[in-house]
Amino acid sequence: MHLIETRDLTYIYPGNVRGLDRVHFIAPRNARIAVIGSNGAGKSTLFKHFNGIFQPTSGSVLVRGEPITRENIREVRRFVGVVFQNPDDQIFSPTVEQDVAFGPTNLGLDEEIVQHRVDEALRVVGIEHLRDRVPHHLSGGEKKRVAIAGVIAMEPQVLVLDEPTAGLDPQGVHDLVGFINSLSRTYGMTVIFSTHDVSLVPEVADLIYVMDRGRIVAEGDCQEIFSRPDLLFSARLDVPVLPKLISSLREQGVDITMAYTFTEAERNFLAAYRRSA
Ligand SMILES: Nc1ncnc2c1ncn2[C@@H]1O[C@H](COP(=O)(O)OP(=O)(O)O)[C@@H](O)[C@H]1O
Ligand SMILES: [Mg+2]
Repeated sequence: MHLIETRDLTYIYPGNVRGLDRVHFIAPRNARIAVIGSNGAGKSTLFKHFNGIFQPTSGSVLVRGEPITRENIREVRRFVGVVFQNPDDQIFSPTVEQDVAFGPTNLGLDEEIVQHRVDEALRVVGIEHLRDRVPHHLSGGEKKRVAIAGVIAMEPQVLVLDEPTAGLDPQGVHDLVGFINSLSRTYGMTVIFSTHDVSLVPEVADLIYVMDRGRIVAEGDCQEIFSRPDLLFSARLDVPVLPKLISSLREQGVDITMAYTFTEAERNFLAAYRRSA
């Protein structure tokens, strides 16, 4: 049974705008999943179905094999934590600490457990130093981290991040990559995130869905997706810089093995250099 599955999911906005068109999406256990697509591709519309904010126009959404109903929606929202693109929609308490504590407190957990979860969430996203600050006075990137900490403190099995790098500085992006990987490794959390910044994807995803105009036009691992420049261009995306560079060098006769992550690329460049020296 998959954690999340959509079957033939179609969503039509008022005014007959097709947000999603027969989407089949599967989130396997303990995967790091990237949904890539240009503006308007349907990423946010898809994510709003994962915890019942939107209901399908047709088709279905299954969470742990079950459709989302009025009876199970609270449970679904504990299981699937969604962080939306605009952090202002998710932050409302007078201090960061209270904001992050809001969700777990509402679950009716003991104060001690809430405190433990809050400390852990602040630590994971690297904002312990903002604990006593007023969320509304923080920068966009800081607010985003507060929103993420608030969702992590609920300890969902599936963490959904809509455009998590939007508004983050380079250090913020680096930290994000680090904690997505550690949430997956340490807690076995499944992480689903959207982006149009493809260069980050190989560092944080095992499974990639490409969206274009409300449809999923391809799915696969880095090798399967990033070896298809035509597909990416037609979806108004790009090939990440490392495979793009290596493939250009290969076309010019350089004997170098393809790579997607920085570590792999560094190793393959060194090996190619040593072979030629
Ligand atoms: N509230 C809305 N009303 C009408 N159309 C919408 C609304 N929100 C999004 N859309 C349309 O649905 C499509 C998918 O949008 P969205 O899911 O926000 O894309 P993405 O998150 O990939 O940028 C776009 O064509 C967009 O214009
Ligand atoms: Mg969006």
